[in-house]
Amino acid sequence: MENNHQTIIVTGGAGYIGSHTIIELLNKTDYNIVSIDNFSNSTHKAYDRIRSITGKNFQTFDLDLCDTNQLFEALSSVKNIIGFIHFAAYKSVPESVDKPLVYYHNNLNSLNNLLKFATENNIKHFIFSSSCSVYGNADELPVTENTPLKKAESPYAHTKQIGEDIINYVVNANPDFNAVLLRYFNPVGAHMSGKIGEFPLNRPNNLVPIITQTAVGKNTLTVFGNDYDTRDGYCIRDYIHVCDIADAHVKALNYLINKKNKNKISLFNLGTGNGVTVREAIKSFEKVAGKKLNYTLGGRRPGDVVAIYADNTLAKKELNWQIEYSLDDMMLSAWHWQKNLDAEI
Ligand code: WQD
Repeated sequence: MENNHQTIIVTGGAGYIGSHTIIELLNKTDYNIVSIDNFSNSTHKAYDRIRSITGKNFQTFDLDLCDTNQLFEALSSVKNIIGFIHFAAYKSVPESVDKPLVYYHNNLNSLNNLLKFATENNIKHFIFSSSCSVYGNADELPVTENTPLKKAESPYAHTKQIGEDIINYVVNANPDFNAVLLRYFNPVGAHMSGKIGEFPLNRPNNLVPIITQTAVGKNTLTVFGNDYDTRDGYCIRDYIHVCDIADAHVKALNYLINKKNKNKISLFNLGTGNGVTVREAIKSFEKVAGKKLNYTLGGRRPGDVVAIYADNTLAKKELNWQIEYSLDDMMLSAWHWQKNLDAEI
């Protein structure tokens, strides 16, 4: 598959957001795409699904980004790399509370290896999966990119805060190196084809896959607390369709490559701007699925922030990005995917 197109390395390309972003890259650009994944929370099936949806091919490496020699050997074999989109990381808030060192090792060593290769090989563009969890329990809502970061509420969030700081210093130390930090809010939903979606290898910890698994009798949802200081007592999040997130990555890449960035490091909130409580999210699912969802009420979950939602003005303006999907679209696409998954297995 030799051609002289410029190449983009996507780490975590078999993962949830990575796979949806590769689909957008293959459909909307002519970059060569190379995915690196160690399948710690995904399988090769994601690659098959991407190829089936797009009808296009791409190169893959099955390796752990923390294995410096393996990673550098693989990257050195790839021609004309102009940028990295770095998704690969562990991402469960509660799991990071239980296993902090696993998170610090995996999320930071992988990032350091990629930055080392990029700056030693004059690769100029770097897009980093950051997270709204860097804001902690913010004093002001919605949060803007200038909202001061509070103490991270979990090791996961802390690895994202540290990751942003590392990238800031590396950008400052390398004249030709530019970065975009994308702070995702809560990515949910599935590709509108119904052929790919969130496909966690392990039992999911996040709300929407647990909702859809509960609806098909494969899981049981416990809602973690309804005694928060919010409009209905439930936590508030800014749920955003994974395809809106994926589209923002294509726009962020072109923003860097076409030198539209006003600063060497740019930071954007990727959220819809709508705060939704857990109860409202469940109601949306029940409406689009046409069925009642059984769940039990439990205590608060360690690491949860009370409420967070985005001011997304900057991303919309700078990246020319628009939100395409509503909460109901998110829930319907997640439900469609869950039913297709069950039909497949
Ligand atoms: C959402 C709400 C829970 C499960 C996510 C991603 C993380 C990062 C930040 C991008 C909370 C409640 C959940 C359950 C529940 N995203 N809940 N019962 O913790 O906001 O983190 O956004 O980088 O990677 O995971 O998402 O879906 O776990 O929780 O009541 O069984 O749902 O308490 O209020 P979270 P989540």
